Order: sequence, then C-alpha cells, then structure tokens
Amino acid sequence: MSEKLDLLYQEFQQALCGSASRAETLDLKAGYLGSKGKLSSILKSLKDMSPEERKQVGSKSNEYKNKIEADISAKLQALDSEEISKKLEKQWVDVTLKDSNLDLGLNAAGYHPVTLVQREIEDIFSSMGFDILDGPHIEDDWHNFGALNIPSDHPARDMQDTLWFPDGVHLLRTHTSPVQVRGMESKKPPFKFIVPGKVFRAERTDASHETVFHQVEGMMVDKNITVSNLIYFMKTMLSEIFKQDVKIQLRPGFFPFVEPGFELDMYTEQLGWLELIGCGMTHPNVLRAGGIDPDKYSGFAFGMGLDRLVMMRYAINDVRLIHSADLRFISQFRSF
Ligand code: DAH
Repeated sequence: MSEKLDLLYQEFQQALCGSASRAETLDLKAGYLGSKGKLSSILKSLKDMSPEERKQVGSKSNEYKNKIEADISAKLQALDSEEISKKLEKQWVDVTLKDSNLDLGLNAAGYHPVTLVQREIEDIFSSMGFDILDGPHIEDDWHNFGALNIPSDHPARDMQDTLWFPDGVHLLRTHTSPVQVRGMESKKPPFKFIVPGKVFRAERTDASHETVFHQVEGMMVDKNITVSNLIYFMKTMLSEIFKQDVKIQLRPGFFPFVEPGFELDMYTEQLGWLELIGCGMTHPNVLRAGGIDPDKYSGFAFGMGLDRLVMMRYAINDVRLIHSADLRFISQFRSF
C-alpha cells in the first residue's frame, strides 16, 4: 500500500508538470483530493486495514495530501504570475516617452482664460446652492424666443442678428436664456441655477464684438422672490469676482422675459461705473411657458457677458483673441 502511495504521488507530480492552466490544475486537484479522488479513496479504505497498516498508511497518506495541496497552490501561483508577465509584455507602455504635442496642450498652455473665470463663477454660485446647467447650442424658435415672451416681430428675431438654419425653426442660440426654459421644464420650484456657455450672433467682428461669445445666465424661482433677492445675489457675486465690496445700481432696462427689467451697473474706484448685467423679475408669461404657476411662484433672472469680465481680469484688449487658438495668447494664463 505504501508503494502504491509513492506511485500515486509520482503520477500526480507528472500530471501537474503537464498542466498548463488554472482549470486543468484545479481538475487535477479534484482528481486526487476531491471526495471521489484517488487519495481520498485510499483514506476511505483505511477502516478495512489492520491497526498496524492503518497507522502507517494513514500517516503517509496525510503527508502526501499535504504535499499535493502545497504543490497545487505553488502551481497556481506560478500560473498567475506567468499570466501577469504575459499581459505586461503585451500592454507595455514607456512611461518615460515624451510627446511634444502633449506639452503644448497641457503643460505649456494651461487653461483658457474663459475657463478660468467661468470656473470661478461656478464655484461662487455652487457655494450659494445654485445648480450649474448646460443646454444645446442649436436651439429652436420656441426656447430661444417664443417661451421667453419675445414676440415674432421683435428685432431680436431679425435675420441679421440670428444665425438660422435653413428650416427656419432651428438656430444657434443667441443667448443663454433658453436654458431658463429648459431648467423650468426639468425642475420643480423652488430651484436656482446658473448656465455658463457659448452664444452666437451674426455680428460684424471688431475688438469688442465677436460672433461667438460667452454668457452666464441665472435664474431663481421660489415663493415670494423679490428684487431684494436679486440684488443680494448680484452684489455677492460681483464682490467675490472683484474681491472687494462693490457698489451696484439698477436702471430700468427692457428685456421681454422680465418685468420689471433692469440694467445693473457696478462701481469700483479703479473702473468707475460699468454696465455689466441684464436682469429682472421673471415675466409671468415666461413662468407659465415653463409650466410654473405665476400666482404661486415668482423668480428673478439675469444674464451677463463673460468675455468682458475675462478681458478686464486679464487686461485683454481684443475679444477676438479669445477664439484665436493662438498658443502665444493662451499660454499666458496657466493657473495650476
Ligand atoms: N438674454 C439677454 C441678452 O442676451 C440678457 C439677459 C437680460 C438675460 C435680462 C436675463 C435677463 O436673464 O433677465 O441680452
């Protein structure tokens, strides 16, 4: 019996040598140590042996059982590390390789100045509980104009200002205000959000006019929202952006989607009075178009040009530089 055990182990070792996968190795383990395995059946037959033989065969079988277990786990480990080295060889990456284009895009250039100021404004408003929304650049007549109480004979709809698609329905959004409508459609009051993004107009370009520029829209709807809420948030935002306590004033301004509507000016020692923001109390027609009952809720909205703020912050003298994609320009604003 003892010899039979020696032979069994030899046979096992040979088979293990030839095993090339985890599955094969685990099968082999079951073939020897499983409940119907070769070694297990010897252990089962112990009870029919003489006490003397049982003692001898018993301890030898146990010894082999431990050996087989150790051999199997060593083999599994070897197979695993073999697989890892194969993968590493296949997915080899030279981490020391330098790509000069990557340098230009990231290390040399940094973030675009519009991105920097936009993120700053997003941080200010998120810290006051505002959501940040995005909307499509290609809009339809309803979201860009109709729902915003802009009648079809309003000059803002004039072909000269708006870049229309040939279907006469779709257009490149001329302001971020359509996202007010999308926000009202997707949210239930109370809510407050801002919308930074690109807008498009059929303008002649010069140092202060571009066909593509940036705005930040804002809207807050709740019960009993008044002009004082509007003033509070505008003043807080501007004081944060300009890092000083700023003075503001409201003048009457006409925008079809607000009533009353205002032009908001800011005063600083260095710059004097600057006209910065269009704003007002959301017109009942606009709330209704967004599915909100104007008898229950009220709201304010504002829209601000972002490019002017960027130009002031970084003393940029020509708005056309912003979309120039000129690395000599862009690489001056690294900030990380
Ligand atoms: N959409 C306006 C524009 O592009 C700016 C604006 C004015 C937005 C008043 C507003 C607002 O939300 O209340 O000129």
